[in-house]
Amino acid sequence: MEHFDIVIVGAGLHGLAVARTLIDARSGSPPKLIILDEGRSIGGTWAAERLYSGLKTNNVVGSYEFSDFPMELERYGLEPGQHIPGFVVHRYLTDFAAHFGLDRLFRQRTRVEVATLREDGAWEIEYKRGCENGLEAGRLTCDKLVVATGLTSEARMPTFSGSTKFLGPLFHAKDLYSRSEDLKGCQEVVVVGGNKSAWDVCYSVATAGARAHMVIRPSGGGPSWVWRPIYLLGARLTLARLSSTRLFSWFDPSPFGCNFATIRRFFHGTILGTWLTWIFWALLDLFATAATGYNDPRLKILRPWTSSFWMGNSLSIHNYETDWFELVRKGRVVVHHADVLSLGETTVQLSDGSSLEADAVVCCTGWKCTPPISFKPDGISEEIGLPREAAFRQQDLVQASKYGLYQVQYEKMSDKRDIRGQREKDTRSWARAQIKKKYAQLGFSPRKTLHRDGKTQSAWRWDLRPYSLHPLALPSYAT
Ligand SMILES: Cc1cc2nc3c(=O)[nH]c(=O)nc-3n(C[C@H](O)[C@H](O)[C@H](O)COP(=O)(O)OP(=O)(O)OC[C@H]3O[C@@H](n4cnc5c(N)ncnc54)[C@H](O)[C@@H]3O)c2cc1C
Ligand SMILES: NC(=O)c1ccc[n+]([C@@H]2O[C@H](COP(=O)([O-])OP(=O)(O)OC[C@H]3O[C@@H](n4cnc5c(N)ncnc54)[C@H](OP(=O)(O)O)[C@@H]3O)[C@@H](O)[C@H]2O)c1
Repeated sequence: MEHFDIVIVGAGLHGLAVARTLIDARSGSPPKLIILDEGRSIGGTWAAERLYSGLKTNNVVGSYEFSDFPMELERYGLEPGQHIPGFVVHRYLTDFAAHFGLDRLFRQRTRVEVATLREDGAWEIEYKRGCENGLEAGRLTCDKLVVATGLTSEARMPTFSGSTKFLGPLFHAKDLYSRSEDLKGCQEVVVVGGNKSAWDVCYSVATAGARAHMVIRPSGGGPSWVWRPIYLLGARLTLARLSSTRLFSWFDPSPFGCNFATIRRFFHGTILGTWLTWIFWALLDLFATAATGYNDPRLKILRPWTSSFWMGNSLSIHNYETDWFELVRKGRVVVHHADVLSLGETTVQLSDGSSLEADAVVCCTGWKCTPPISFKPDGISEEIGLPREAAFRQQDLVQASKYGLYQVQYEKMSDKRDIRGQREKDTRSWARAQIKKKYAQLGFSPRKTLHRDGKTQSAWRWDLRPYSLHPLALPSYAT
């Protein structure tokens, strides 16, 4: 069986960054390293086989690149302030891999299925590799395993009653590129979901001349904020730019923020500061609302249900060539707040009683956050802190809010691996105390949701926060 010092699963942004760092750190005696990915090309989210037409970054040029490998404007044909086209990100990551010799370490079409921690401390990896005759099973071993499988690589596909009866294409947004031919000729396309993938699919459908029905479930987070530029005293402000300023980081609720500790303590730890923070986010929402024109009766239905403060990664940017909202005004995109009840041969039955004609259904229903690998022995994946999707019971909630789960897992790790120096231990316990404090203030508070009827409800969303249990996640200032 082949043996490696390090195996990295995932050739996306993070897998490549880890590979480059590990090789750099041991440049004297480079580790025997390999990068496995089930995709056909480098890039993960930005792999060539996932680049649907019109895909661009939310970020603007200069804010989505490695600091030691600049995305040069001329080389990539970019303009300052531009949202980066997906194919450019792919080319950039491929160039990055070639520049640092990572392309030679890349094994494509190799899906890791099982990772077993053996008693001798090595990992045994079972994988399936695509070859001419189908799939070929294989095994290898390694001393260290890096899981860089991403949070947007494993599609979460809902099951609908009657889906086998449905005659048209039914697929997840992940397959938008590979299934784009299937959408040609479709006149009515149902798009399930209210976040950025759904916005992209609606745009692509509606600008191709068909009609998109965006179906957003009433029980969830509602439509995401999709920010358009704000004009303030003649200056053009975009969220992409604003969020990379120091001012923004003061108001950023991230418990891992490391700079401007005193200022951040003021804004997040004092009564006056939290009021100012609240005003800051309320003003942003106000400007964004005005810039989008949510008061227009035709756009009201897209008004987000939560403040952008609570939106997390659903906070998006209007990075389209033409006005997305105009498609709604013209009726090319029709928004429904409803659940999909069932599918017929050419129809989609909604919970609001309506029945939509549908030539195709595209599910933009998000991603599984657990790595799609079976870890053995049982329980090891939780022990090493990988995320899990299980919903919490009420009693777990109480325990977790006292950091019970976090602490127990952390201490298990510390006991087992007594190889770290005292200084490192001190740093970690200090960092742990900081994290506890911050999570107490922010991470474990209930999410507030403003529903269409104007009522505010508080809902615990534990099942969607698995990374908060990561036992060795340290803020950058502790390392
Ligand atoms: C359409 C889209 C647009 C986005 N745009 C932005 C943006 O503009 N700005 C931004 O900040 N973020 C954006 N994101 C989020 C994006 O996921 C991250 O920015 C980043 O690309 C994630 O990199 P990653 O390496 O963590 O994961 P990924 O890029 O998802 O890479 C993970 C890799 O692991 C591989 N893999 C998974 N499981 C296995 C397995 N069992 N065996 C082998 N290989 C496996 C996958 O094939 C994939 O190649 C976007 C996401 C999507 C889906
Ligand atoms: N650069 C770009 O232009 C771009 C493009 C696409 C994606 N992205 C990024 O990629 C990340 C993921 O975005 P995403 O839109 O793919 O996924 P996502 O943010 O997880 O959104 C999934 C959507 O599907 C809904 N949903 C989930 N399960 C459902 C079900 N069973 N029935 C009905 N609706 C369901 C969710 O509703 P609830 O709110 O109710 O859970 C949510 O609206 C984000 O960070 C996004 O910014 C960027």
